[in-house]
Amino acid sequence: MNTLLEVNNLKKYYVLSGEGAEGIPGFGWLMNKFKGIQGPKTVLHAVDDVSFHIAAGESLGLVGESGCGKSTLVAMLSRLSDASAGDIHFNGRDIGVVPAKVFHAEPERTDIQIVFQDPHESLNPRFTSFDTIAEPLRRLKGISDAQELRKQVDRVARQVDLPLQLLGRFPHQLSGGQKARVNIARAIGVSPKLLILDEPTSALDVSVQAVILKLLVQLKQDLGMSYLFVSHDLNVVRLMCDRVIVMYLGQIVESGAAEDIFTKPAHPYTRALISAIPKSDPGGDLRVRLTGDPRSPVNPDPDACRFHGRCPSGEPRCSRAAPPLVQVTPDHYAVCHFVEPDSSGE
Ligand SMILES: Nc1ncnc2c1ncn2[C@@H]1O[C@H](COP(=O)(O)OP(=O)(O)OP(=O)(O)O)[C@@H](O)[C@H]1O
Ligand SMILES: [Mg+2]
Repeated sequence: MNTLLEVNNLKKYYVLSGEGAEGIPGFGWLMNKFKGIQGPKTVLHAVDDVSFHIAAGESLGLVGESGCGKSTLVAMLSRLSDASAGDIHFNGRDIGVVPAKVFHAEPERTDIQIVFQDPHESLNPRFTSFDTIAEPLRRLKGISDAQELRKQVDRVARQVDLPLQLLGRFPHQLSGGQKARVNIARAIGVSPKLLILDEPTSALDVSVQAVILKLLVQLKQDLGMSYLFVSHDLNVVRLMCDRVIVMYLGQIVESGAAEDIFTKPAHPYTRALISAIPKSDPGGDLRVRLTGDPRSPVNPDPDACRFHGRCPSGEPRCSRAAPPLVQVTPDHYAVCHFVEPDSSGE
């Protein structure tokens, strides 16, 4: 399979204080004046040395708890923000070297589209559905003829099952499900190769969620896009994705085929996530409960496992040595001292 996106050692660090801190906008002179007494440098490692790939036509799920760096990663991939280090290859081209502020002029701006987390907040309240869907067609595809634009917007609205009479409405005149359709239409209208979905259904009620997920499955079949599907809902990820990566405090702790991750999770954090999925037949309480607070992403200890302190299997060595990357089976990896390669040949 052809690799569409390849990410190597990607990092996003925020300098909170000390040398290099951004400080309060407009007060840089004050920071310079007190340079010598700024104190130790504190750096938040939002995304820390992340590598993965997405094949053409593949759906990759990205899961992990709040604050683990999912949206920060998504912002770098869609080139809305610059990385601190690492590279992003898309369709064979190193797009990570193009600064985010000039990326709008690149062809990949069209090829990588994003559906933002909250359909209510991500729509411009002064834009009708027509304006929202037409805007990228105008800007990225250069369609300026009014008749052609109407034709294209109608085509995309039909693709997402948005009734054409809703095209004249503003966001406050639409239901949550209709807004989700407008958001998806805006992203797919320019025929992207990669669609990044940041929690696309978390703001919707369960019945609408199911309809939107079905629509996403259908669109993927019809248009042959790759998906990066970010979600808290593991059942949804299992349903939607071919492969899954699990993030914890800025790092990938496990990756593999969705079926392997859900049936044979190797990392203790993944096991805890999977055990917390509500089941129709609970069969006793097998839930792995995490105790303690997550470690801080600020100046993390490079010689300790970031899950140590919350990990049910933790041992003293986990606080003294960073865990190794272990290949469990050919396409299944976990970063943990306790994981062994699977020798059963399954
Ligand atoms: N501009 C910023 N300056 C400093 N720290 C930031 C900035 N943006 C994000 N962070 C920090 O980076 C870390 C990752 O945040 P991010 O929004 O990527 O998490 P997330 O996994 O998307 O969480 P959620 O599931 O709640 O959306 C958090 O600790 C957050 O506080
Ligand atoms: Mg987020």
